[in-house]
Amino acid sequence: MSQQISSSRTLHRLVYISRQAFTPHMIADDEIDALIRASIRNNLAAAITGLLLVHDGWFVQVLEGPAEAVMTTYRRILNDPRHAESRVISAAPASCREFGDWHMCARQLSAADDAILKTLSQRDGFDPAKLTDRSALRLLKAVRGIQDRTALTA
Ligand SMILES: Cc1cc2nc3c(=O)[nH]c(=O)nc-3n(C[C@H](O)[C@H](O)[C@H](O)COP(=O)(O)O)c2cc1C
Repeated sequence: MSQQISSSRTLHRLVYISRQAFTPHMIADDEIDALIRASIRNNLAAAITGLLLVHDGWFVQVLEGPAEAVMTTYRRILNDPRHAESRVISAAPASCREFGDWHMCARQLSAADDAILKTLSQRDGFDPAKLTDRSALRLLKAVRGIQDRTALTA
């Protein structure tokens, strides 16, 4: 992974999945809120943008920003006991920010969002093991779309 990081200033995008470690059920909303508040504070200072999908006991997160900042942030997140079994799906230079509107935001998929999973052929159950670098980014971009629409109608 580090071989793909050409320069600490180059824009990079890292996508990983991990399992929620602290509850077998959905993470509490107030816990997510606190996590996102801390993330926004740190990510703003480090020029990191991204999105965190929370679903069915899993996290799928994308981090974008200067290569070194992305790796430093990911290493810190890795050490967080609130999740485990983290797996990097992709880490590579990026030509532009896809999630530039948020220094971090979290989204939980609802039943109404089912169409997204259907699109990704995951309707029978969310199985992150099946996510590839392309399908993970597609999923996160679809969630970004929902987040955009929600923000507009809020
Ligand atoms: C799934 C998950 C995603 C996280 N994402 C971020 C993030 O994008 N940025 C960040 O600074 N911290 C993130 N954190 C929190 C960090 O692990 C850590 O708690 C936090 O950065 C500590 O910040 P503080 O030292 O300012 O309190 C995340 C934690 C988890 C479990």
